[in-house]
Amino acid sequence: MKAAIVGGGVIGGGWAARFLLNGWDVAIADPDPEAERKIGEVLANARRSLPALYDRALPHEGRLSFHADMAEAVSDADWVQESVPERLDLKHAVLGKLSDLAPKPAVIGSSTSGFKPSELNEKGARAIVAHPFNPVYLLPLVELVGDAALTGPAAEILRGIGMFPLTVRQEIDAHIADRLLEAVWRESLWLVRDEIATTVEIDEAIRMGFGIRWAQMGLFETYRIAGGEAGMAHFLAQFGPALAWPWTKLMDVPDLDDALVAKIAAQSDAQSGHMSIRQLERLRDDNVISLLRALKRNGSGAGGVIRDHEAALPGQHGAWTRPIPPDWADGGGNVAGFRFVEAAEAATARLLAAVAPADLPVTDMRLRLLRPLTAAGSLTIRSSLATRGAAPRVTHRIEAGDGAPVAVVTLFLAPPDPDLAARLETLAAAQEEDLLAGDDDVI
Ligand SMILES: NC(=O)c1ccc[n+]([C@@H]2O[C@H](COP(=O)([O-])OP(=O)(O)OC[C@H]3O[C@@H](n4cnc5c(N)ncnc54)[C@H](O)[C@@H]3O)[C@@H](O)[C@H]2O)c1
Repeated sequence: MKAAIVGGGVIGGGWAARFLLNGWDVAIADPDPEAERKIGEVLANARRSLPALYDRALPHEGRLSFHADMAEAVSDADWVQESVPERLDLKHAVLGKLSDLAPKPAVIGSSTSGFKPSELNEKGARAIVAHPFNPVYLLPLVELVGDAALTGPAAEILRGIGMFPLTVRQEIDAHIADRLLEAVWRESLWLVRDEIATTVEIDEAIRMGFGIRWAQMGLFETYRIAGGEAGMAHFLAQFGPALAWPWTKLMDVPDLDDALVAKIAAQSDAQSGHMSIRQLERLRDDNVISLLRALKRNGSGAGGVIRDHEAALPGQHGAWTRPIPPDWADGGGNVAGFRFVEAAEAATARLLAAVAPADLPVTDMRLRLLRPLTAAGSLTIRSSLATRGAAPRVTHRIEAGDGAPVAVVTLFLAPPDPDLAARLETLAAAQEEDLLAGDDDVI
């Protein structure tokens, strides 16, 4: 499969990484001479973070290419994603060209944050809105707006690359999520302008409280709980009347004059100026990975999307190099010993996925720690299945990024029924053949 990314800035780069790391070939068209460097930086962040969400290997990366000619970039594409700056005249020009050049069955998605499909297509283009969230390689949400005959197949494709398509029932300026964000943003600007709060205080108000609730249950489910046993109707009866009080300045627009811009910029510098944008991006990505991995356990919110996508990834029995998730660090910055067992369990599931419909219970285990491993970068796991004797066992040799052995974990599995035992033997024999043939990465 091939994606053409037209406009490779912050968002286009994120789309490129999302497709590429899910095995798609990606062709980029962007006139910026710096595009290759900028996309390289986004890709570096994505390579260390997207695979860290999963306990199964993602497909092999596709091929990345850069094109001065838009026709060349979109030829044979299955998905064309426009992510040029948010100007309607530019969107018209680019989407018009793409509609002529792209293969007829290809989805043409626009990343627009605000424009409606009827506006994008008023000059004859055939685009839908496919509005993602930054960083596109980690956050699953994509708002789809447009002709249902086009958004339906588009949603299927997005699910295949681990995203969550939310189809918007009726077109509306700024879709759903940005309408909500706009309300919070507008109130925040007023609070700063009126000297009620600083940028730090507003961020604390979000991240110390309701921001944590939103990530796992959203708004309505959270308020349902707030209503207690009497539920949502009671909550509305209790807090509904407050909506009529003059709490809000939502309908007014603060004048973003030079003084207000300078004030916000100065507060933001004081808050975060000690870190570069790249450092902030890495911190954000590490935190998002840890949150999503925690949500994956219960299948809540975006964690459920990752869990479902992971379950659909095929098993493999070659060596597996995986980024070390940030939450695997112990207090000293090394990988905590029990994480090697977790890695070994995931590697066992990956190895057996093709033959065992469910995880085989582990009855015993041996862990040998050979040397500490710094919890950064990647580790490689080589797994081998032995079926001789009463019960199968899988031995995992774990190596640091430089190839140095760091741990050996052996998991002993419960005796399988005769049918599964036969399939395990076939798998063990195939694995041995691959090793003999030097084929280290066969599905
Ligand atoms: N930044 C966000 O958080 C965010 C989130 C969701 C959606 N969006 C939407 O994504 C789109 C792109 O935003 P961005 O933040 O990535 O902007 P950006 O300025 O970072 O990137 C735009 C890129 O488009 C390229 N470009 C300009 N004209 C072009 C042309 N004719 N053909 C090909 N490439 C061209 C530029 O060189 C640049 O690299 C906008 O529609 C925006 O509303 C942005």
